Amino acid sequence: MNVALRMLALALSIFVLAPGAVTAQQPLKIGLILPMTGPFASTGRQIDATVKLYIEQHGATVAGRKIEVLLRDDTGVAPDTTKRFAQELITNDKVEILAGFGLTPLAFAAAPIATEAKTPMIVMAAATSAIVTKSPYILRTSFTLPQATLGIAEWSAKNGIKKAFTLVTDYAPGLDAEATFKRVFAAGGGSIIGEVMVPLRNPDYAPFIQRVKDSKPDALFVFVPSGEGSAVMKQFAERGLAQAGVKLIGTGDVTDDDILDSMGPPALGTITSFHYSAAHPSPENKAFVAAFAKANNGQRPNFMGVGGYDGMHLIYETLKKTNGATDGDKFLAAAKGMQWVSPRGPVKIEPDTRDITQTIYLRKVETVDGKLYNVEFAEMPAVKDPPPAN
Ligand code: DHB
Repeated sequence: MNVALRMLALALSIFVLAPGAVTAQQPLKIGLILPMTGPFASTGRQIDATVKLYIEQHGATVAGRKIEVLLRDDTGVAPDTTKRFAQELITNDKVEILAGFGLTPLAFAAAPIATEAKTPMIVMAAATSAIVTKSPYILRTSFTLPQATLGIAEWSAKNGIKKAFTLVTDYAPGLDAEATFKRVFAAGGGSIIGEVMVPLRNPDYAPFIQRVKDSKPDALFVFVPSGEGSAVMKQFAERGLAQAGVKLIGTGDVTDDDILDSMGPPALGTITSFHYSAAHPSPENKAFVAAFAKANNGQRPNFMGVGGYDGMHLIYETLKKTNGATDGDKFLAAAKGMQWVSPRGPVKIEPDTRDITQTIYLRKVETVDGKLYNVEFAEMPAVKDPPPAN
């Protein structure tokens, strides 16, 4: 071949290769929708921090694609805002993956947009069981309330609690938690002597806690969303429920690592079941907690943070399998069945439900090195979201 022909061949090969190569080099935009302001800003702050941490630790390029995160603040419980952001991110900003979703109503609002655009939607926080059924493109890396509630319901029935009162926030995750607690606690021989639901917006726990005290249960089971635990604990202490013989139990949302230490002595002894504790004694978690603290002024990650970190892990590992492709059907097929060791312990994305299976731990609030932590004392491995009871 003479030089001219060789050059022509080279030029042609570049021409032929170019389109694919260009696609592979295009940045991959992830639309991250989180409450960064308002009453649930701690959820947004935690997830934003762990998404950044994951990228910093694993590099901003995966499968030849540079990851760009477009963060949108949906400000609290404003489903229309979440839905509009999801739509605009896909249509105008050309994001290929949606992620975040701090509360159930927000995940519900975005689900139809993901379905219509066939865009993978990674739910990193919201935890109502039914969320995964709202779009075939949803994958969840947080947890579900029924999954988290089973442990404490069984433990209470077996550990001398005969009469329980339930207090939950009045929206879907609260209903999930209450229904599971009642079913499992009753099956173990316990009786529910009262139940209250507290509004999601501007809750005042005082009158509800007083009603609990007046009815003298052995225990109060609580579910409130992340960030609300301090207000519950304050009322529980001020109204003297512990002195009146009422034990505080719940899912770990109430003893959230983000605010637990600031609750002080009233939180000591609270027993919860949950999927994540900053005190989980694994090497993976010790490294995660240390890296989070280093990047965030010594703060602790909480369960929202670990949901964000694992959401990024799922995105990165799936992209490696698809060679950077994000087409909804291909991405979902590659993500289904994925398993890894998270800072929380072993996790799996169930191929049939796209929901997360994980270890649920029983924990007690204790002082460790002068700070309050949820110290794990028992574990239930590989807990799936339980099927709804009829
Ligand atoms: C949800 C929000 C929370 O902050 C939490 O702790 C659990 C569930 C939710 O809205 O799904």
